[in-house]
Amino acid sequence: MAELFELELLGGAIERRYRKTRPEVERMPWGTLDTSGIPEPVLIAARRAWTGAAYQEHRTAVACTATLRALVEVRAPLDLIAMATRFPLDELVHVELCARMAMELGGGTEIIHDPDELVRDPDPALPPLLRAAELVTRFFCVGEALSIPLLRGTWHASRHPLPKAILGRIVKDEAAHGAFGFTFLDWVLERLGPRDLAHLGAQADIVIRAIYRQWVSIGKRKAKSSDDAHALAWMETDAYLALAERSMQRNVIDPLQERGIQISAQLATRQSAP
Ligand SMILES: [Fe+2]
Ligand SMILES: [Fe+2]
Repeated sequence: MAELFELELLGGAIERRYRKTRPEVERMPWGTLDTSGIPEPVLIAARRAWTGAAYQEHRTAVACTATLRALVEVRAPLDLIAMATRFPLDELVHVELCARMAMELGGGTEIIHDPDELVRDPDPALPPLLRAAELVTRFFCVGEALSIPLLRGTWHASRHPLPKAILGRIVKDEAAHGAFGFTFLDWVLERLGPRDLAHLGAQADIVIRAIYRQWVSIGKRKAKSSDDAHALAWMETDAYLALAERSMQRNVIDPLQERGIQISAQLATRQSAP
């Protein structure tokens, strides 16, 4: 079912309550971005990149929520689950921030998506604990753990106060998301056997392979002028791809393998860690 990726706010008292939970959103320097000197193709690419970022945050909101359900079902430590209940709200705020940034640049671009295909559910035939561990591995130990250094790198590179404020907020929230995955793994590992670990490794492989494919397409259409790209923080440069490769090894593959979750040799040695 193909649907347009569009968002709305209910407004009124509901929006006011939402705003109260995250007052920093309204305090960001909205309306301060002067796009008049920016070449049209750079602007369009930036609009596309920020709309894409909003959509990715939307998918992450679904991923966090699916993981939360699995954690409650398997009675993961209460304090750990309680910490993770914050994540879906964080992701919704990130959706709004990225979507508003696209609006500041002239409007969002069209994304057609299938709501049924946002995230992949684990095989229902697997035991509940392994399903929960799979979700945490795929969404947090790979997805979130990789995004933190990339967001931090983009935040450093961005120069305008608005994208800087947006990325700064996201980086702050994401630090807890990335650490969470490995904290859960450290709790769950003694409850799993060698075949379970092999399953988690195979699942991580699938996600890592998909990310490598994305990098290939980013490499093909990367920013012609990194100056313009940095001003708008739209994150498609050689430096970004180099950081992405290093981060995959250090923040994802190494910590998984340290925990006995083996990543396919072909993926793990894709780049030599410096
Ligand atoms: Fe996020
Ligand atoms: Fe996140």
